[in-house]
Amino acid sequence: MTIIAPSLLSADFTKLGDEVREIETIGAKVLHIDIMDGHFVPNLTFGYSMVKALRPLSQMIFDVHLMISHPLDYIESFAGAGSDVITVHIECDDDADRCLDLIHACGKKAGLSIKPNTPPDALFPYLDRLDHILVMTVEPGFGGQAMMPDCLDKIAVIKAECARRGRTIPVMIDGGVNAGNVQRASQAGADSMVAGNAVFGAPDRAAAFRTLTEQC
Ligand code: DX5
Ligand code: ZN
Repeated sequence: MTIIAPSLLSADFTKLGDEVREIETIGAKVLHIDIMDGHFVPNLTFGYSMVKALRPLSQMIFDVHLMISHPLDYIESFAGAGSDVITVHIECDDDADRCLDLIHACGKKAGLSIKPNTPPDALFPYLDRLDHILVMTVEPGFGGQAMMPDCLDKIAVIKAECARRGRTIPVMIDGGVNAGNVQRASQAGADSMVAGNAVFGAPDRAAAFRTLTEQC
């Protein structure tokens, strides 16, 4: 079954604790947390202290997406704050191998993400040690953008290479997922999907979450 991971970026920031509790109540098992540094992407969001503050409120898997230029400086802090999965961008300014080593040394699952213009084979050198792959289906930085459907074709390429190596690595997509494209994304092979606006922006979030989950 495909997992829908609501993105905190689209929550009401005036009551984040309540938002996290509500999203767990409606059935979410994974919470996607977007960290932006105003440098890797032209937007700013939260720091590790916010992850730490939210951690005691929820049993959900905290899936932390670091859209930051220098993740090496922050991985230990995000791990200590209670992240479960930490994903860095292959396009960041730090060495991806060192990032993955540090995430693993902190006892966390390590993910790599690729932006829309990065080819899927850029991930191949890391496949033997990755726990998670995040394929961006929008340019990172903002919620509420339209999905770039061509990015979905990368999933098959990644899965074929994983199969060739006898590895199974879950592939998540991020950006523009909604009820109109979730089926196509599922058919393209996505194991999990981030949904920001499509869940938090819906008048009935429980119904929106259920619809997305049932359609894929
Ligand atoms: C964008 C973020 C996404 C974003 C998705 O840079 O990485 O996680 O929250 O939001 P929607 O689902 O609204 O496109
Ligand atoms: Zn994200």
